[in-house]
Amino acid sequence: MENQPHGVIAVYPGSFDPITNGHLDLVDRASRLFDRLIVAILRNEAKKPLFTVEERVEMAREVLRPWPNVQVESFGGLLVEFAAARGARVILRGIRAISDYEYELQMALMNRRLAPNIETVFLMAAEDYSFLSARLVKEVAALGGDVSGLVPPLVYERLQRRLAPAR
Ligand code: PNS
Repeated sequence: MENQPHGVIAVYPGSFDPITNGHLDLVDRASRLFDRLIVAILRNEAKKPLFTVEERVEMAREVLRPWPNVQVESFGGLLVEFAAARGARVILRGIRAISDYEYELQMALMNRRLAPNIETVFLMAAEDYSFLSARLVKEVAALGGDVSGLVPPLVYERLQRRLAPAR
């Protein structure tokens, strides 16, 4: 790591459909642990996202602007290949409840098998957001529930605009 010209680079991958305050909390804490953090948004239309990957990248860039060592990119294909191409030695994931553990363990072990030099690092989600998921945010917002306080104001506004015609 001492030999890395740009310090320790971490990739924080996910769907981010959309980015929530839980993600922001993780970015904030990780930005102080790593020299550079790349938020990597998966390009996968098969998941039928609410927002296109361009919209998700644009929203994430806007709300993450205050963190100078954080950048946002989209990616397709294997995560470890994207991470290696960026010179990242770390994959960052957030863990909320114990129910996240099995899925995360599977991914971490598969990624280690594919790329033994890249370590997956987990941070515990903040208590306030340990129940929060983008999926639930979308479901509640679509049914007219109040999700302000769970997402950044810009995302709240986009959710209202996107989901209002559905109600
Ligand atoms: O926010 P999500 O949907 O839980 O994120 C899942 C993500 C993007 C981390 C995962 O699906 C992924 O890494 N996809 C890229 C393809 C890949 O490398 N798959 C093998 C992972 S073991």
